[in-house]
Amino acid sequence: MANLTGKKILLGITGSIAAYKAAFLVRLLIKAGAEVQVLMTKAGAGFISPLTLSTLSKRPVYSDISSEESWNNHVEMGLWADAMVVAPLTAASLAKMALGISDNVITATYLSARCPVFFAPAMDLDMWRHPSTRENVRRLQAFGNHLIPVGHGELASGLVGEGRMAEPEEIVEHLRRFWAKAQSLAGRKIVITAGPTYEPIDPVRFIGNRSSGKMGVALADAAARRGAEVTLILGPSGLSPREDSVKLLRVQTAIEMHQAARDAFQGADIGILAAAVADYRPQEAAAQKIKKTGETLHLELVKNPDIAANLGQEKKPGQLLVGFALETENELANARSKLEKKNFDLIVLNSLQDEGAGFNYDTNKITILGKDNKIRKFELKSKTAVAGDILDEVAALS
Ligand code: CTP
Repeated sequence: MANLTGKKILLGITGSIAAYKAAFLVRLLIKAGAEVQVLMTKAGAGFISPLTLSTLSKRPVYSDISSEESWNNHVEMGLWADAMVVAPLTAASLAKMALGISDNVITATYLSARCPVFFAPAMDLDMWRHPSTRENVRRLQAFGNHLIPVGHGELASGLVGEGRMAEPEEIVEHLRRFWAKAQSLAGRKIVITAGPTYEPIDPVRFIGNRSSGKMGVALADAAARRGAEVTLILGPSGLSPREDSVKLLRVQTAIEMHQAARDAFQGADIGILAAAVADYRPQEAAAQKIKKTGETLHLELVKNPDIAANLGQEKKPGQLLVGFALETENELANARSKLEKKNFDLIVLNSLQDEGAGFNYDTNKITILGKDNKIRKFELKSKTAVAGDILDEVAALS
């Protein structure tokens, strides 16, 4: 099992009774080999003494954003850390993080942090269930932050239910698993197609579709974070990958995407085809803007290359190809036949029938089918979390 040797961890402690467990958490993290910098809100410091935590972490504790030292350090600390863990996270601090309100040392550092952020909420069961809390958790996850789930049991109020902060051992285990997985695609060359294609009718008009490119961009970022060398071939989309290491090739048409994908796939280990490629294009794009002359207008459409099927034919032993299918009926059967026809190793099925899934949503609900008839169904999740599920399956095959 991977340990935490040399990992630099910012531990944010907010004002919950569960803050008393932070002393055990610091001790476990240090024992696992991590360096720990503790940040506390003033309310957090009311529940556990900064002196206890600075003694255990062997570093000064920062709690006052207006002190010169903390103020100067919040950006630096955000850059220093390999991970930020906020445990316990109260409903109030959760809401501030979800909205980007940086009025204390933890929320200010959170906004500056470039590292993965983990949050372990702690609150009473009704607060945990409240739609405001649910929405804030969903928002933080949609930003790519990692929820360390709450436990079930007796709460400080005396009520019994969900809302307890995860135990320190579980938090450490969560981090261990994260880093073990984090490098699961190290050195792999991955090509990803994403977004729509625009097929020109004339200089101002095109045939396109409603794909946003969100799923493919989330996959590119997630694969890069796992150590892969990623080439993202992105159709017209307002989005860009966040990870600097992603090589971004912007294209407009299916033909341009096809060319770029063939070139990149030759030297790649894995191809993931998340683009919504237009199946047809106007036979000829008019050189000048088409005038409104007749009552009807006929466009002759010709078939575009099937990028996926072509890469499937060119696939060499050792290369993996992952496709997507968006179906409205006979979903599993259609997805399976696409997997076979296009020589995919995995196919990711998303259905337009699922509320919150598909074009332009931040969430998606998928089923992954493999060659071996294995079917894995997943819950509705943020596209970042869905990207993680897809890459887990890819890493297991590669
Ligand atoms: N695909 C592709 N090039 C195309 C069409 C599709 O690379 N010209 C890829 C998509 O990126 C996706 C998979 O093929 O990974 C399936 O796409 P889909 O549009 O569902 O399949 P089609 O073959 O176009 O089938 P149909 O539209 O008839 O359902």
